[in-house]
Amino acid sequence: MESVKLIGLGLITICPILVYIFKFKTRKVYEFGQEIVPLDIDVDDIKSGRFIDRKYMPFRYPLTQTMALVKLDMNHWSIVDEEYYHFMSEKKRLFDNYEEEKLASNPFYKRLYGSEYDHICEELCEFVVTHFTTRFPKLFQRVSNVVYNKLLNEEYDLNKMDPFLVVTKLSMEDFFITVKDEDTKQHKCVGVSVAFGGGGFPIVPIVGQGMDEIHKKVPYYESKLRTSMSKWFDKFIDPVERSSWHIVWDKDLNCNELYTKHREYHDDSEKYKGYVDNIPFSDFYVRVERQSLIKLPKSKAIIFSNHPLFLNIEKDLLDVPVIPTIIHRTMHETPKDIIKHKHFDLLRHHLDPYLLEAEKRQQEMGVMDPYKPVRTQEGFPFRR
Ligand code: HEM
Repeated sequence: MESVKLIGLGLITICPILVYIFKFKTRKVYEFGQEIVPLDIDVDDIKSGRFIDRKYMPFRYPLTQTMALVKLDMNHWSIVDEEYYHFMSEKKRLFDNYEEEKLASNPFYKRLYGSEYDHICEELCEFVVTHFTTRFPKLFQRVSNVVYNKLLNEEYDLNKMDPFLVVTKLSMEDFFITVKDEDTKQHKCVGVSVAFGGGGFPIVPIVGQGMDEIHKKVPYYESKLRTSMSKWFDKFIDPVERSSWHIVWDKDLNCNELYTKHREYHDDSEKYKGYVDNIPFSDFYVRVERQSLIKLPKSKAIIFSNHPLFLNIEKDLLDVPVIPTIIHRTMHETPKDIIKHKHFDLLRHHLDPYLLEAEKRQQEMGVMDPYKPVRTQEGFPFRR
């Protein structure tokens, strides 16, 4: 009799737990109406570099200054890839080991405080944690309010840590948080966690600025982007991505020599070109800034995130049909202020012979038809 009672008691206790686990395991997660499909990858897949994300090759041709937004598949938002360890150790270094006091004056990390902004950060943190634990269940787990990062062997107590810091420590992305300023009717930036800005612009001063101020140095912003961007911000619901690219000769995530040398040589283009001439072609990369925009459902804050990717021109691009031609033409034919902004005028003389030779080789091999007009390749912004 006693044992029957014990079994009954056991069942009463265990059943709700099983139901909870079953419900949790089978619960589908949707982000903006898109189902997030769990990826069966583990720590070893990332450590060994076995897991490779979809190949990204965002080469539009011709390149003009337009918003160039494409629909974002949320399963490829905030990706985790074989560079995770490198990115995260760079973040740790650039963010002064995340020491609270030092972060307060860090040149790459700032957020505004106040209940409105705190709520946005909490919502973003919940969003990122749910995304990571759903998409990468073997890499990130959550038990109650503690998040386990299996890749770094770290745990984050959501009750104790600043939510923006949790986001920074989990994701490879750089984040810009923006909200609509009801006085100016423009979106303004209220938080940045941007370790990988590349060196072309200062990070922290952006906080508090509106879109016009932030983009004032962007070529053709006033004439080609401003109106369409402000209309788009007002009706934006579904997530989108965009990208931009330029050419560098080092893989420094935070600041490329392209910019430091420019400052060092004070616009002396002959000296700059002379320096570039001595850099071997094999050192050149296309640096792609892969950017996404999502609108958080409750706060309506727009989260702009950026993920740099480096494609070595010689190894990754020379043999891809039509891409060397697109790069070459873009460096010469793009509207002149874009050419200057991206410093193409200081690099192209050095890269031209290699790109033209690759074009000739592709034509001889029959992978590129010399009579077909050059255009954006099928599958853009991915490679088929
Ligand atoms: C529809 C949305 C947006 C479009 C079309 C857009 C477009 C651009 C373009 C064309 C540039 C020049 C570099 C490039 O080719 O990418 C740029 C730079 C930049 N954008 Fe945006 N942007 C958008 C949203 C945002 C948002 C929400 C932020 C958040 C703060 C932001 C921050 C920046 C910054 C910091 C730069 C660098 C500025 C500089 O070089 O001085 N953008 N953007």
